Amino acid sequence: MSEEKRVTFGSKLGVLMATVGSAVGLGNIWRFPYMLGENGGAAFLLVYIICILILGLPVMITEFFIGRHTHRNTAGAFKAVAPGTKWSLIGYNGVLAAFLILGFYSVIAGWTLEYLLQSASSSMSGKPVEVFTSEFNIFSSGIIRPIGWTIAFIAVTHIIIVSGVEKGIERASKIMMPLLFLILFVLCIRSLTLPNADKGLMFLFNPDFGKITSSVALSAMGQAFFSLSIGMGCLITYASYFNKKTNLQTTALQVTLLDTLVALLAAVMIFPAVFSFGIAPTAGPELVFITLPNVFAQLPLANLWSFIFFTLLALAALTSTISLHEVATAYMHEEFSFSRAKAASLVSAGVLILGIISSLSFGLLKEYTVFGLTFFELLDYVTAKIMLPLGGMMICIFVGLRVDRKILKAELTNRGTVPFYFFNTYAFFMKYVAPVLIGLVFLNELGLLKMIRRLIV
Ligand code: PFF
Repeated sequence: MSEEKRVTFGSKLGVLMATVGSAVGLGNIWRFPYMLGENGGAAFLLVYIICILILGLPVMITEFFIGRHTHRNTAGAFKAVAPGTKWSLIGYNGVLAAFLILGFYSVIAGWTLEYLLQSASSSMSGKPVEVFTSEFNIFSSGIIRPIGWTIAFIAVTHIIIVSGVEKGIERASKIMMPLLFLILFVLCIRSLTLPNADKGLMFLFNPDFGKITSSVALSAMGQAFFSLSIGMGCLITYASYFNKKTNLQTTALQVTLLDTLVALLAAVMIFPAVFSFGIAPTAGPELVFITLPNVFAQLPLANLWSFIFFTLLALAALTSTISLHEVATAYMHEEFSFSRAKAASLVSAGVLILGIISSLSFGLLKEYTVFGLTFFELLDYVTAKIMLPLGGMMICIFVGLRVDRKILKAELTNRGTVPFYFFNTYAFFMKYVAPVLIGLVFLNELGLLKMIRRLIV
């Protein structure tokens, strides 16, 4: 596809909002608290923040570089820099990851719609904790409703991708994001003023270093990649729409900061309440969905709060599903010359099948497991813990090996017009630290480090 035909984002704020829109989503508000709860709280948080800083930020800047430098979709970008080589496999890994993530993400996005509807239709105040839990279990293990909502969410994403109303989304994000911050803030205060809230804070901020295991490190690393939308070329695709004035460094820094802030607010909103209501922090994917209704029930106008919150959460999820869908659609459209509508339909049809099976794995197909994981858990594990970190590692190795440092610097400084004070530090982290660290976490998790140590000693 020629460069002139490619759209670019309208304004500076538009660039930031679209990218933040991709990063901020269910990953921050649903997945982050549940991962924290399952991985020992503060110990996980500490490793997570380290991963964001030393892996997330360099990988994000590198993806921005590739995307804007080539103006291509994920797979095309690698072909453009290294034609005729196997490097394009990184791009295929990304396209496949986008597709698989959509397959389970749309199920949870569908749950937000159910909760949105419920807050508009049935009263929540005065219900005991157990009722919220059992209502959730009945809903999520059902067939028609959760699948119906999954399909609805995929359909909305599809329509937006085909009709190209991203501009509308860009505009909506500008209002939605500040509102999301505001409501998270209010809910944090409510949660912090509940009885026993301090236990939640201890769980979050008082690390037990003994809890940092290889599996915690892998989970934190996977979560960092998932939350920042990196490792699969989503941001390569978005950066391909950036214009030549976009400041790649500050955009990366702002996206990372905002994304981390939302995740932290979500954790402060959830954990004091979890301990106050006696919910198990290790509850898993349902954690947020059984905790939050209890927080709302403690507020005056409970249903209104719940309605506003789930509307914002659904929109945050939508800006992320759009970015995921765009990765796969742009690839099919540009590499196979399908029309955009045909490319999008193929992607949506595939996602629909994955989504239905994922949804059923909370009920009817619960017993069918691979390595002890249900279909939903398998998609989540394979993408967040394997494909994204592996993709990130390969992206760094690729740029480190194949791209001339001068070209890298020129692109990241907009041809020398903006300074990059820490360029050498960035380049060092991107080329050496990130790939080695990611590799070590993998080896450790696979138990290979122990084997190597035994062989040496
Ligand atoms: N970052 C999104 C979230 O936190 O909800 C999820 C996501 C979007 C992951 C886009 C990967 C991606 F490419």
